[in-house]
Amino acid sequence: MTQVRNKQVILKDYVSGFPKESDMNIVDSTITLKLPQDSNELLLKNLYLSCDPYMRILMTKDTTGGLGAHTPGSPLIGYGVSKVLESGHQDYKKGDLVWGITKWEEYSLIPAAGMFKIEHTDVPLSYYTGILGMPGMTAYAGFFELGCPKKGENVFVSAASGAVGQLVGQFAKLAGCYVVGSAGTKEKVDLLKNKFGYDEAFNYKEEHDLNAALKRYFPEGIDIYFENVGSKTLDAVLLNMRVHGRIPVCGMISQYNLTQPEGVTNLAHLIYKRIHMQGFVVVDYYHLYTKFLEFVSPLIREGKVVYVEDIAEGLENGPAALIGLYNGRNVGKQVVVVAHE
Ligand SMILES: NC(=O)c1ccc[n+]([C@@H]2O[C@H](COP(=O)([O-])OP(=O)(O)OC[C@H]3O[C@@H](n4cnc5c(N)ncnc54)[C@H](OP(=O)(O)O)[C@@H]3O)[C@@H](O)[C@H]2O)c1
Repeated sequence: MTQVRNKQVILKDYVSGFPKESDMNIVDSTITLKLPQDSNELLLKNLYLSCDPYMRILMTKDTTGGLGAHTPGSPLIGYGVSKVLESGHQDYKKGDLVWGITKWEEYSLIPAAGMFKIEHTDVPLSYYTGILGMPGMTAYAGFFELGCPKKGENVFVSAASGAVGQLVGQFAKLAGCYVVGSAGTKEKVDLLKNKFGYDEAFNYKEEHDLNAALKRYFPEGIDIYFENVGSKTLDAVLLNMRVHGRIPVCGMISQYNLTQPEGVTNLAHLIYKRIHMQGFVVVDYYHLYTKFLEFVSPLIREGKVVYVEDIAEGLENGPAALIGLYNGRNVGKQVVVVAHE
């Protein structure tokens, strides 16, 4: 039976504080490219891996009340695009392309449940780690299902140029909204305005008074805040929300590396302004995936929605790419190429 090298990214131990490349090891193990007898799993060749901010949360012993955790000594788990080498499940066959939760290694044995079969291949396959995968669904569900946008409303998006944010801004424009985004560099601010169609954008690192910045861009207040970062940004937003505003709470990346979370002081504005603020996890919306594909696929084909990726070549460059999310090194969706199809 053929044994081949299986390069892996192993989490050494649970992480405290800001993650470092040295928290992960690149190791060469081996794998037999054959499904164990009676297995109903899939044997996958991983092609693209997705760097997602929540992966840092899983590097801490589970304190989230259910999101789970990576296992020290084992490969990281995360979203990816893979090719089926062998299938023990009737719905999949050799050669199928799938996206879903896999492991940070060259080849993986994965339960078939929860994998999505890729039917359209007229777009880059890596898009299934981003616009056509989990982040795309997140932007869609968070903005349309929780944000409930109406034409002419005012929308603010933080971490606006990233995997999720770049789409929220474009969806907001398609819905006829005025949309402003914040990001951490001039290059990203330029992208927001010149590529993703944001009406306005600013570099939050250059604004020492975020409340004043928001008042400048939203003199009449914010109807929808798509929350990606938390902390000071959320506090300033609360002061600028309109009555009956909505805050889909997608993420709070500023908090993921802190041992002591920061406080938010303006929560009473939720009452004064009757704001609907709701956290969500995208997996609860996967039943909408087909509807989402029907919505977004023609928009991609017609060039009405664009998507920017930041590609790191090689599994060995995965740890640096992942860590880059927490200092803003990525410009657009951070993808790691394990193998080209
Ligand atoms: N609820 C869900 O199901 C779900 C699903 C997917 C993603 N999310 C969340 O959505 C958010 C965006 O995810 P993404 O995949 O689109 O990531 P991303 O925006 O592609 O990458 C993360 C970006 O966050 C910004 N950032 C990092 N540290 C920050 C800090 N301390 N303060 C402010 N900004 C900071 C950086 O951009 P700058 O250069 O602009 O600072 C960085 O590039 C994250 O909070 C993530 O956890 C939630």
